[in-house]
Amino acid sequence: MSQLTIVVGTMYGGALDVAEQVMPLFENAGYSVEITEQATPAMLTAQDTALVLFCVSTTGSGDFPGNFVPFARALEEQSPSLDGLRYGLIALGDSSYGETFCGAGRTLDALLESLGATRLGERLEVDAMETFMADDAAVPWVEQWIEQHRLKVA
Ligand SMILES: Cc1cc2nc3c(=O)[nH]c(=O)nc-3n(C[C@H](O)[C@H](O)[C@H](O)COP(=O)(O)O)c2cc1C
Repeated sequence: MSQLTIVVGTMYGGALDVAEQVMPLFENAGYSVEITEQATPAMLTAQDTALVLFCVSTTGSGDFPGNFVPFARALEEQSPSLDGLRYGLIALGDSSYGETFCGAGRTLDALLESLGATRLGERLEVDAMETFMADDAAVPWVEQWIEQHRLKVA
């Protein structure tokens, strides 16, 4: 069965909630889905992990959530080749933070690209100033993402 991993970076649970809400969409599309808050670079280079969705919020001043820091640091230090990886990215943030809006998601996107990974479609940026429940924006985005990139395997 095709495997999809959802990697979560969250402070208060919003990004995890998004992951849990979109999980059934991938299951209906034929995937075996794993949600993790403790990802490792090895998970991205494993052969059966060719498709990953990141759900990452921003804290501090454009910083990664605490649970995501070891993973981001390991990626920077190990610089693995992510040539075989296709990913989607949902960034949660709040535009009242100005220039650091969705800073963690944007930094992650640049890091993944620099390691050779391929983003499918545009990054979704969910603004807490406009969208009270992030999954209201994330669910239709994922439905479209699956459709547009022909990700159905069942
Ligand atoms: C202390 C703190 C700092 C934050 N800093 C930023 C920031 O720099 N940029 C941003 O876009 N959002 C920032 N946010 C907003 C969060 O990213 C946003 O509320 C998000 O939905 C939280 O998701 P979570 O529940 O997964 O942690 C901050 C929120 C808090 C509480």
